[in-house]
Amino acid sequence: MEEQIVLQNVTKTFNDFWGKPRVTAVKSLSFSIKKGEIFGLLGPNGSGKSTTLKLILGLLYPSRGRIAVLGRLPGDSMVKRVISYLPEQDYLYPYLDARETLDFYGKIFNLSGQERRQRIDFLIDLLGMQGYQHRAVGEYSKGMARRIGFAQALINDPDLLILDEPTSGMDPIGNKEMKDIFLDLKSKGKTILISSHLLADIETTCDRIGIIYEGSLIGIGEVDELLAPYRQESHPLERFFIDTVEKEKERQNAEIKSARESEVLPEKPEEVDQKVLDKLIRKK
Ligand SMILES: Nc1ncnc2c1ncn2[C@@H]1O[C@H](COP(=O)(O)OP(=O)(O)OP(=O)(O)O)[C@@H](O)[C@H]1O
Ligand SMILES: [Mg+2]
Repeated sequence: MEEQIVLQNVTKTFNDFWGKPRVTAVKSLSFSIKKGEIFGLLGPNGSGKSTTLKLILGLLYPSRGRIAVLGRLPGDSMVKRVISYLPEQDYLYPYLDARETLDFYGKIFNLSGQERRQRIDFLIDLLGMQGYQHRAVGEYSKGMARRIGFAQALINDPDLLILDEPTSGMDPIGNKEMKDIFLDLKSKGKTILISSHLLADIETTCDRIGIIYEGSLIGIGEVDELLAPYRQESHPLERFFIDTVEKEKERQNAEIKSARESEVLPEKPEEVDQKVLDKLIRKK
């Protein structure tokens, strides 16, 4: 299968005002995403998920390593036409309603008036926003804002979708609807990268997952394969996720311990012979 996104040894360090390294958010990350798959990037808070997505989108530059999106550099103008992004936080113009918001983004993609109208009708319907499509988006609840954000990400009928916590704040019905939309998009050959810590969402929709912890990838594979040993559990992905993170913590602690043990302690300085000292003092 064709690879849509490739990361090779990608490291991202945020520097402070003086240019000194402050946080290494992503460490030597290497993985790829194939055409037509739904890939889930999982990890605890602050593990580097959003940073990784921003690097793929070309919104941040890697400190080291290489990223290719559709065989080009992230941020390439051809890539921008076929990629879409749902950010972690919604950035909406509060005084526009849903239709005006989508119309605005449709214009950015140079869609004609007729294309915009058809696409907006389709998306309002797809995301179940008919009831509030004429209300200013500034009044929307979290779940409603997430829907318009997702509709906005779909306005250009993208081939590659990058979604940061797409279902956060969604009620169970909205959650299920979103998952159905992901699967429908996949059936149309779209590629989707989702970051989330809502494990239930990932388990039922993703083909493959990667677990990121303190910026490093600590597990990657097909969901079915990774979860096979955990199928007896009531929440297999939750168990697998916790186990993988715990094992990594243990590995890191063991590494620190053995480094401490093998540390060469500075030798005790030799005691100065009192007679020699007396001689030296007398000489002065
Ligand atoms: N612009 C920035 N400047 C400095 N540090 C940053 C910046 N953006 C992210 N970081 C740091 O990088 C690390 C990873 O952050 P990131 O937002 O990628 O995590 P995340 O996995 O998306 O977390 P969450 O689940 O909470 O959304 C954190 O330590 C964060 O403080
Ligand atoms: Mg994040």
